[in-house]
Formats: sequence, structure tokens, C-alpha cells
Amino acid sequence: MIPYSEACERNKGPILEVLRRWLPPHARVLEVGSGSGQHAVHICESLPVRWQPSDRPESLDGLQRRWALVARGPGPGHQEPPIELDVRRPEQWPAGPLEAVFSANTAHIMAWPAVLDLLAGSARVLAANGLLLLYGPFSDDGVHTSASNEAFDAHLRSLDPSMGVRDARQLAREAAAVGLETAADLSLPANNRMLIFRRHRLDPGDPPTPAQ
Ligand SMILES: C[S@@+](CC[C@H](N)C(=O)[O-])C[C@H]1O[C@@H](n2cnc3c(N)ncnc32)[C@H](O)[C@@H]1O
Repeated sequence: MIPYSEACERNKGPILEVLRRWLPPHARVLEVGSGSGQHAVHICESLPVRWQPSDRPESLDGLQRRWALVARGPGPGHQEPPIELDVRRPEQWPAGPLEAVFSANTAHIMAWPAVLDLLAGSARVLAANGLLLLYGPFSDDGVHTSASNEAFDAHLRSLDPSMGVRDARQLAREAAAVGLETAADLSLPANNRMLIFRRHRLDPGDPPTPAQ
């Protein structure tokens, strides 16, 4: 069976419109935690990108099955075969430099240390001025932006205390600490947001990162 997410179907349109505005043509994009692969398919049908889906081993089978079925469909984008990537394993990150890293609805599933790994890994593989785009529900200084996000957060924490809706301000501080500056914070339907961070241009005196 090929995995399918109803939520993905609802949010793929608004996400595509953000990426249409923010990604440069022919951007090389790493998607972290692709899940069912529906975003990869939808975006490659519309945008001239080179898209690299990825996920943890337990989600890779289904992702590969969707890729085999539809990846070579019509559209200007090109979808690479999915790769295994657990953000906690630095050796699994692809070599950069990339124009963008995109991840939808993953930060509240990953434990907080893995979220920090996602930020650090993105900073390593992004080219100067490359973008990290994080989609999902986020709070601000611990305050939820809607009752439904608050209930969702409580639900996640009841399932596993290491999960939970992440705080946009805390994410921005941690991102800045690894060289990712806040570029935008966009409101999207159903109380979701797209947080966009830009990899700052390295000074000539900076030590090289592994990807550069
Ligand atoms: C709620 S699903 C979202 C899937 C898809 N991005 C979407 O929008 O429908 C969360 C995803 O995060 C992935 N994930 C969780 N922890 C991860 C980690 N440490 N490294 C990479 N992916 C992870 C899961 O495997 C899963 O595919």
C-alpha cells in the first residue's frame, strides 16, 4: 500500500504557493521527513525544482513506492529517489550546497534534540543565502495561537512527552545560533505557519562547514 495523508492533501496547495514565491528556479531542495511523499509529487508537478525526498527507515518503503509510481509524472520538477535520513545522524545528510531544505509537520514529532539536529544539519548543507522552510503549527513564547493547536499539543504530549508543538521564538533563537536568520513567518490556513530561515553569507574568515 502507498501511504496517504488527508492533511497533506489539504495543506499541499498553500505550501506550494509559498514555495513558488520563495524558491529560486531550479533549486536543489532536500525534504526532511517526507512521509507519504505527496508534497514531493505536488511540488514537482508545478515547480522547476530538483527535489530530494527523505525519511527514517520505517517510512522509507512507502515513500519509495509512491516515488516509483508517480515520480516521473508530467511537470517541470525532477524528483530524486528517496534517501534514508534521520536528522540525528550527521553521516546520512546529503552533501550540499543546496538552495533549500523543506520540512512539513516534523518539528512537533521529533524530540527537541532532533529538532536542533534538523537546524544544525540544514545550516551545514545550505548554500549561502539558502533557505530552511519549516511548515506546521507553532506557538509564540509558549502561547498557542489557537485552541485547536493547544489541544493538539496536549494530545501529542499525552502520547509521548518528547513530542509537542514547538515555539517559533525558541526555534528562531536556536536557528540564529547555527547561522540561520529569520527571513519570514507566514500564516497559513488551519493555524499553521511557514517559518523561513536564511543561511547567512559566510565571512571569508569563517571556518568552512563540511558542505562548503
Ligand atoms: C506527521 S509526519 C509528516 C509527514 C509529511 N512531511 C507530511 O507533511 O505529511 C512526521 C514525519 O517526520 C518524520 N520524522 C520523525 N523523526 C524524524 C527524524 N529524527 N529524522 C527524520 N525524519 C523524522 C517521520 O518519519 C514522519 O515521516
